[in-house]
Amino acid sequence: MEIRAERLLLREFTESDLDALHAYHSDPRYGEFYVPEELTAEHTRKLLNLFLGWAEEDPRRGCQVAITLADELIGTCGVRKSVWDGTDAEFGIELNPEHWGQGYAEEAARAILGRGFTELGVAIMRGQSVSRNEGAARLVRKLGFVSIGMRKGPPWMQSRGWQVQDWELARAAWSG
Ligand SMILES: CC(C)(COP(=O)(O)OP(=O)(O)OC[C@H]1O[C@@H](n2cnc3c(N)ncnc32)[C@H](O)[C@@H]1OP(=O)(O)O)[C@@H](O)C(=O)NCCC(=O)NCCS
Repeated sequence: MEIRAERLLLREFTESDLDALHAYHSDPRYGEFYVPEELTAEHTRKLLNLFLGWAEEDPRRGCQVAITLADELIGTCGVRKSVWDGTDAEFGIELNPEHWGQGYAEEAARAILGRGFTELGVAIMRGQSVSRNEGAARLVRKLGFVSIGMRKGPPWMQSRGWQVQDWELARAAWSG
């Protein structure tokens, strides 16, 4: 699967993406809202295995793709159904901090969400963020997501005074 956006190319992951993925996972700006275990080389390896595995599924339940700019991997985004024939899916996105603030996340998100609502037949897209993550909240609001509430997160989040914020975007509210 490949999606061309205005400035970006979203493409399948390959084995050779590991270093670029881990390079930004170990950037402290990226790590602000994650636990240290999620920022290790082992965790990045596990994630890449997961992404490569999802791409092998048939029929495909989810699309988790590499976001690339001029052949450089700058992040990842995905739409993942919880079950094969379901109509709700989880949306997620992350970018290398070196590329924040240029509209790349919005561009990639619109491309993958469009694919989810059309080809994957998703009716409700769900998302989660840490309540303090203003960059994520700004992005999902721009895309049309609405906050459906806050709930208690795991102990590490509680210890920092943060909660989990849940978001939803219905196909009927999607403007492309
Ligand atoms: C969430 C995340 C992907 C948002 O990235 P981002 O670069 O801030 O998001 P956008 O692509 O929407 O860019 C927004 C900014 O680009 C600016 N911009 C510059 N050129 C632009 C253009 N051509 N088009 C659109 N926006 C542009 C916008 O004005 C906006 O600035 P603002 O935030 O000061 O208002 C990023 O913070 C991230 O990777 N965080 C770590 C992982 C994470 O938290 N993921 C979410 C978990 S739920």
